[in-house]
Amino acid sequence: MKTGVYPGSFDPITFGHIDIIERAEKLFDEIIILIAENRRKQALFSLEERKEIIEELFKEKKHIKVEILDGLLAEYMKEKNHKFVVRGLRAISDFEYEFQHSTINKELNKEIETVFLMTEPKYFYINSSLIKEIVALKGNVKEFVPKAVENKLREKL
Ligand code: COA
Repeated sequence: MKTGVYPGSFDPITFGHIDIIERAEKLFDEIIILIAENRRKQALFSLEERKEIIEELFKEKKHIKVEILDGLLAEYMKEKNHKFVVRGLRAISDFEYEFQHSTINKELNKEIETVFLMTEPKYFYINSSLIKEIVALKGNVKEFVPKAVENKLREKL
């Protein structure tokens, strides 16, 4: 059983993330979407709210699980005995950040391999902050997030 762990802040999840999950489904038997607090960001949704949103989106897919990370990714991988971290690459600008993270994770846990998947080009330039800004300014985000996510955003903003 091969498990891919896809960490991120997912505040909120977008079609760009979903594209990576769908690509990862072809490689792994099981995918764990691992929601982590990014200490450098002020989140809109709580970790529990994000978990509920993502679980609802993937409720038909039993091989996709959603968990909340408490602590270091490298430690979580060790404790659960998972070996593969999945990350999406968009523009070249992602590379340096991803290179740094995967190198540090490997330093902390030698068993980890990070698998990079290309994001669909139409999602190259979106991120969760941009989506929140568009919704706050009453713009249309239906091309970037599922309807359920858009509704949650409208409730919050
Ligand atoms: N399509 C569209 N947008 C995407 C995307 C994709 N495929 N992948 C990422 N994004 C967006 C995200 O929405 C996010 O937007 P935002 O900055 O506006 O919120 C942005 O790109 C950055 O995403 P990502 O690179 O996944 O960062 P993150 O903050 O979501 O996640 C963690 C970073 C949580 C993975 C990292 O901080 C971590 O591993 N933390 C755990 C603690 C730890 O071990 N720290 C040491 C790490 S070496």
